[in-house]
Amino acid sequence: MTKPIQIGYPEVDDHQSLLMRALTVIPGKPGSVAVSDVPDPSPQADELLVEGIALGICGTDKEIVAGEYGSAPSGFDQLILGHESLGRVKQTPDDSRFTVGDLVVGVVRRPDPVPCGACARGEFDMCRNGRYTERGIKGLPGYGSQLWCVSIDYAVRLTPSLERVGMLLEPTSVLAKAWEQIDRIGNRSWFDPQKVLVTGAGPIGLLAALIGVQRGLQTHVLDQVTEGVKPDLVKDLGATYHTDDIDTVAGKLQPDVVIEATGAKSLVFGALANTAGYGITCLTGVSPEGRHLTVDAGAINREIVLENDAVVGSVNANLRHYQSAAEALERADSAWLERLITRRVPLEQATEAFDDSGDVEGDVKVVIDLDGPA
Ligand code: BGC
Repeated sequence: MTKPIQIGYPEVDDHQSLLMRALTVIPGKPGSVAVSDVPDPSPQADELLVEGIALGICGTDKEIVAGEYGSAPSGFDQLILGHESLGRVKQTPDDSRFTVGDLVVGVVRRPDPVPCGACARGEFDMCRNGRYTERGIKGLPGYGSQLWCVSIDYAVRLTPSLERVGMLLEPTSVLAKAWEQIDRIGNRSWFDPQKVLVTGAGPIGLLAALIGVQRGLQTHVLDQVTEGVKPDLVKDLGATYHTDDIDTVAGKLQPDVVIEATGAKSLVFGALANTAGYGITCLTGVSPEGRHLTVDAGAINREIVLENDAVVGSVNANLRHYQSAAEALERADSAWLERLITRRVPLEQATEAFDDSGDVEGDVKVVIDLDGPA
């Protein structure tokens, strides 16, 4: 038998430890994603031991698999991948507020060790020195394994009704944060938004639209595809689906708020140029570097200044955002949420989750089932 891969959980006695299956990758090495044997984790005094149920896959995971992003725990080569978690508590510390059988999600980010002023105040999503760590992304083992551990301070309990869709909590937390940023910026003066335009009908865009509708806003979503599930998912939310170019759509709508969820440069600048006065554009998508787009920077500057517009970038989420995301998912139609999951792959075939060659209309969310037969 090959020696199990060590992945940076605290050392356990090798002779006693059992093995589990995990989705692993060597960050920086394209083609290294694999389903591997790793030692079972053993929980520290403040940690829950959790049986993985499912794991959502997102663009960040694909970047890590492509060797473009991410880092293993210090001193190790391999990273257990996965940050969109869902599991069931198997063991709890004494006196914890959790019970065996609870449905839980693990928070992604941990504060930097300094800590900076933001991390010291629980706002680790706003870390100022970049030395934060992230489960499954940057320096900490992720949640893509049959068992995982999480400190009770970074575990979020979900209502049992979210058992099929709870792995959507993490991406929803990113949007709960984005909407909070929009509120805070909007409330610097009188703010009564009516229309939101979301660019991109992937999971982030659709969850942004869900919250827009829950807030009672007239919600519009722009995407390229005309077939597949996306147009119906948008319509069934009570929102409007658009496929024209950004200048046409945003120019006509003049949205009060734009949530950009693609990172496509033409959409970013098209949105900035077409908001209503006092418009807020929140950027949540990451663009690749090095490709150029010619823009009239003067016209954009003029629009932003003369209309008191604001542009904000938003990433990650803190515990407050996870709580508000959990409320948004509870309020949502669970059948609609389930339709966001367009593909489920068993853990043993998890590497297929990264193959989108046969995907014409666009998978929305691909999920890896962690609790099937090993
Ligand atoms: C995750 C965030 C994380 C970001 C950058 C995103 O995919 O949802 O939690 O902060 O990647 O690593």
